[in-house]
Amino acid sequence: MNLTIRPIVDTDLPSVAELESQLFSHPHSIDQLQKMVAAHESCWVAEIDRRLAGYIFASFGGGQADLLIVAVDSKYQKQGVATRLMEQLIDQLHSLLVDSLFLEVRASNQAAIGFYRQQGFSEIGVRRNYYPLSSAIREDALLFKKDC
Ligand SMILES: CC(C)(COP(=O)(O)OP(=O)(O)OC[C@H]1O[C@@H](n2cnc3c(N)ncnc32)[C@H](O)[C@@H]1OP(=O)(O)O)[C@@H](O)C(=O)NCCC(=O)NCCS
Repeated sequence: MNLTIRPIVDTDLPSVAELESQLFSHPHSIDQLQKMVAAHESCWVAEIDRRLAGYIFASFGGGQADLLIVAVDSKYQKQGVATRLMEQLIDQLHSLLVDSLFLEVRASNQAAIGFYRQQGFSEIGVRRNYYPLSSAIREDALLFKKDC
């Protein structure tokens, strides 16, 4: 598997938006993704054989960072792609003197929770009824933190 990690460029956004719509019940729109990239967040993509396989977006400031999205195409999951994306992000955060990385995740997202625990994140709290689940029901967000 020929895996490359590189900074995102604007021409990646249609493919990223397409993967968002495949992987998330409430995907970010291409406009929202564009705003994150334009805000100079830390945004990386993974390519396998020159095709988009995954991406990771984070924001940072004041010595702290927030993981906004990490996602891997279902046909490439469980092959270490998200691990490589996280390594790249953490390398960059080190160079920016960031010492803590925070995130929120849907309480039902067992794949992501398993991944974050395996990456050394610890659960630090819960936001009740944070995410919409359907028009009438919401679900909790779990808050995680990792020391960089
Ligand atoms: C969460 C996600 C990004 C993991 O990506 P991945 O490339 O498959 O992860 P990796 O292969 O690097 O996995 C590393 C470790 O994470 C854990 N992990 C990964 N997928 C898991 C799953 N489905 N269930 C439990 N643990 C999991 C395992 O410990 C795994 O190590 P192992 O393969 O030795 O068992 C991927 O499942 C995904 O894109 N999900 C949909 C999008 C999403 O929900 N993103 C998170 C919220 S923004």
